[in-house]
Amino acid sequence: MRKIITCLPLPPNHVNIFQMKIAKAHIEEIFLDGSIRIICPPELIPGPGQYLLANADGSDSSLPVPVFSSLPSPHAGFRSATLSVPWRPGDSLTLRGPIGHGFSLPPAARRMALAVWDDSPSRLHGLIPMALKQNAVVVLVTNFPTPDLPEVVEVQPLNALLDVLQWADYAAMDVNRENLNQLRERLAGSEQVTAKLEAQVLVRAPMPCGALADCGVCALILHHEWKMVCKDGPVFGLKELL
Ligand code: FES
Repeated sequence: MRKIITCLPLPPNHVNIFQMKIAKAHIEEIFLDGSIRIICPPELIPGPGQYLLANADGSDSSLPVPVFSSLPSPHAGFRSATLSVPWRPGDSLTLRGPIGHGFSLPPAARRMALAVWDDSPSRLHGLIPMALKQNAVVVLVTNFPTPDLPEVVEVQPLNALLDVLQWADYAAMDVNRENLNQLRERLAGSEQVTAKLEAQVLVRAPMPCGALADCGVCALILHHEWKMVCKDGPVFGLKELL
């Protein structure tokens, strides 16, 4: 008897685990701010806003660590965003990814606002060289220290957020899931700003399975619908979040 097998198309946000890459990598250098230079195959380097899941070989912990990129490395691999891990130079890692939806900088953007609500701005750093390459002016809004920033980038405190968003034609933001309501409250009543602005938000949440096991730890309710930060994000359109 012949069997007929029907292949259904994957939904747009589906994370195809067969397309994820797994590779060995090693830690080349650890910087004072906790970021790490990781040497890995180029196809594993996550774009801004995407992440890898990393397990340190020989570690007692079975839970992988989400690793975001900060800057491309001039030699090989990439510099991660700030991490809090007990890793050391020379340690070897098993990496899986890149995973998730990252930022997409509109080619026409010329006034870019980067805003980080509650942590180091390092996950947004990778957008700076891309913006400068297309002659955009960049303003970073943060109350956190900003070492290693190109001099052309202006820094403003968080209480200037609305003014900077009014000026910008594109904004990329970074907020912990637990503080999303604070960001919403800050933007409430500014519909004239947010309606015309193209903006994306990286939502941070624990992501232990990275979309492999549907564990639900990273869940977020948006407009009465469950979303998973690990695969529907971690970067969302601002309008989806308001
Ligand atoms: S981390 Fe498990 S479903 Fe998102």
